[in-house]
Amino acid sequence: MQYGYFNDAAKEYVITRADTPLPWINYLGSNGFFSLISNTCGGYSFYKDAKLRRITRFRYNNVPHDEGGRCFYICDGETVWSPAFLPMKTPLDAYRCRHGLGYSIFDGKKNGVSASLTVTVPMHTDMEVQKLVLKNESDSEKRLILYGVTEWCLWNAVDDSTNFQRNWNIGEVEIEGSTVYHKTEYRERRNHYAFYSVNAPIDGFDTDRDTFLGRFRGWGEPQAVEHRTSFMSVAAGWAPIAALRLSLTLAPGESKTLLFRLGYVENPQEKKFTALNVINKEKAHAMLAAFETEAQFDAAMDTLKAYWSSLLSRFTVQSSEEKLDRMVNIWNQYQCMVTFNMSRSASYYESGTGRGMGFRDSCQDLLGFVHLIPERARERIIDIASIQFADGSTYHQYQPLTKRGNADVGSGFNDDPLWLIACTCAYIRETGDFSILDAPTPFNNEAGTEVPLMEHLRRSLRYTVEHRGPHGLPLIGRADWNDCLNLNCFSMTPGENFQTCSNFESGKAESVFIAGMFVKYGKEYAALCDRIGLSDEAKTVRGSVKEIEGAALTFGWDGEWFRRAYDAFERPIGSRVNDEGKIFIEPQGFCVMAGIGGPEYGKRALASTEALLGNEFGIEVLHPCYTAYHDYLGEISSYPPGYKENGSVFCHNNPWITLAYCTVKDGNGAFDLYKRNAPAYIEDKSEIHRTEPYCYSQTIAGRNAKTYGEAKNAWLTGTAAWSFVAVSQGILGIRPDYDGLIVDPCLPDTMNGYRLSRLFRGTRYDVTVRRGENKGLIVNGKPVPGNTVPLTGASVCTVELTI
Ligand code: BGC
Repeated sequence: MQYGYFNDAAKEYVITRADTPLPWINYLGSNGFFSLISNTCGGYSFYKDAKLRRITRFRYNNVPHDEGGRCFYICDGETVWSPAFLPMKTPLDAYRCRHGLGYSIFDGKKNGVSASLTVTVPMHTDMEVQKLVLKNESDSEKRLILYGVTEWCLWNAVDDSTNFQRNWNIGEVEIEGSTVYHKTEYRERRNHYAFYSVNAPIDGFDTDRDTFLGRFRGWGEPQAVEHRTSFMSVAAGWAPIAALRLSLTLAPGESKTLLFRLGYVENPQEKKFTALNVINKEKAHAMLAAFETEAQFDAAMDTLKAYWSSLLSRFTVQSSEEKLDRMVNIWNQYQCMVTFNMSRSASYYESGTGRGMGFRDSCQDLLGFVHLIPERARERIIDIASIQFADGSTYHQYQPLTKRGNADVGSGFNDDPLWLIACTCAYIRETGDFSILDAPTPFNNEAGTEVPLMEHLRRSLRYTVEHRGPHGLPLIGRADWNDCLNLNCFSMTPGENFQTCSNFESGKAESVFIAGMFVKYGKEYAALCDRIGLSDEAKTVRGSVKEIEGAALTFGWDGEWFRRAYDAFERPIGSRVNDEGKIFIEPQGFCVMAGIGGPEYGKRALASTEALLGNEFGIEVLHPCYTAYHDYLGEISSYPPGYKENGSVFCHNNPWITLAYCTVKDGNGAFDLYKRNAPAYIEDKSEIHRTEPYCYSQTIAGRNAKTYGEAKNAWLTGTAAWSFVAVSQGILGIRPDYDGLIVDPCLPDTMNGYRLSRLFRGTRYDVTVRRGENKGLIVNGKPVPGNTVPLTGASVCTVELTI
């Protein structure tokens, strides 16, 4: 069953009913100011950091879910309704939500009045702008009263929801004309405030939430709205809001447009005030003036759309697979941008208060983003590397506002360092910019410790080589990619954090997965060394690769698949000798991609993977699921069977298997798996899948779960980047390389070819792949040996390949 449909021409997903199984959200904003917006207009805004600089309030675990956010009330006689259904919940005569790239549009109708609300964060401004067009479609005059309301968060989202003995005292606002300024804590150390404003005279306002709502009332029944009035309340502590009231009279056929603007301003210390405790509004005035008219707003929408068209034109494909094209050309790349911006910090599932930017997460997100805006990728790589320690280990996360490592979580995730090699090599292959390797980059952000980025990469590798266990395999530390395989944790105390406690430092538990990573990225590092004239180092690294590959073959191969790990007592995990958790997905993906054991082991491992882990929605993490908690395994065994790391389809690692299929040249296997969890392909199962059909989710409950097929944690998942890599570089086979663009498709029998356009190093490559007699690669009409299209420097290059 579907709740909407894709409109590819407009690059929109059109939701046709408000009661989607879960809030279906979109992201607005591209750099500093970000908003999340659901299909009923819920959500929240923040500036750069969803924990430290939260602008509007959101209650994650509220009932009903997703109330608050952007509240609009249209009073038409006795009826009060909201254009996006919530918060009033008045049944609408028509409802539609269109999520587009960086904007969302809500079309609601009731009793002959239509409302069209477009919400976006225009580029280069720290402001969400909401354009509301009200039209009288009836035969008689309409006298409407309209409210636009937002609730402020007191900046630090954690404090805001915990520290009430302080918070209930500090809320402060200023009101000027049709603008409410939120200036809590500005009197003291903060130099930022927010505002909510409408571009028309208001009849009244409220800034105290409880006065506006009234006792025992929620957002769907404010007393001010019930009485069609405003109490002109000025918040003093408690919960400050901005509620603006206007009256409109519309003749039959007449429409009026209003612009509501939610902005964020920072002032320099010396320019904070214009009088004692009166905030300096100069910047806010300028921001409002820039969005005073409909024409200004429409121009900003055009700019945004042109920006996205231009970004997406960097990689477009036309094939016989409409759904693949839809994912590749629009939604997968869009999600890559969102995961690049957010890492795992702010969604409807990630509270934005805990995880900040993950080290491994951000490194992987870059893999699907680097072709879009390489300059931002470069900056991010340096930010990430700057939280690494001198010994090559690294903080696991950092806060986006401060860019400092998160000491609460600390380090010790032994896969982390190697991901830095993955993303740096991907960046250089995309851009040819070897100079990034010379960029002075500190350790732990300490001034004076800067070394060239290359040295960070070197120490990443060395860290793995020097931290190995009894079988010569890399030590797992607190956990590797699978955060929940905590082999040194041994926790029996409720509430103890699985990832940060270690009650038994075995110094023995090893990861076959990290071995696979090391072989893959060690080879990439060695190739990089060769290119920059470090042939001795390349040789040494290849020696280490050989050693670890040998260990993986001897102790990591189980007979029909790769083992997962060795526990603190040197016992294998993910082996036929285990009763549960006999096979895991991760080493099958990485060891096969790394070429360990060659195509023969690869094919056998993939056959076992499909046979034991495959389901309708993809490949499960492990099988059989753990039925009981085991302290020597940690969090993985804490989940009920079929959920999360205990046997769901953990989508992030499925593209590794797709890529592994491509490694062994099995296009049918690759595409079959790709289709099983690509959102557009399972849109018609939305009532089972439940999350948005236009973006990947973190998990899909596995066969052992009570809710098999149900997805959770939409949007912020490494699945976005890896799926884009899998489909673009694996299945379609377009891979950026140091010396050119590799064209090496691995198509299923059902696809006869494709046409593709790829901007790479300033040249637009127009690639046509078709089936027929293999004549090799034809570049600009001439045959070229191998599968790499050499760099031409020309603005256009035509490539043909017959397969
Ligand atoms: C984390 C990743 C981790 C994955 C698997 C995600 O929630 O953000 O860093 O690799 O879970 O455990």
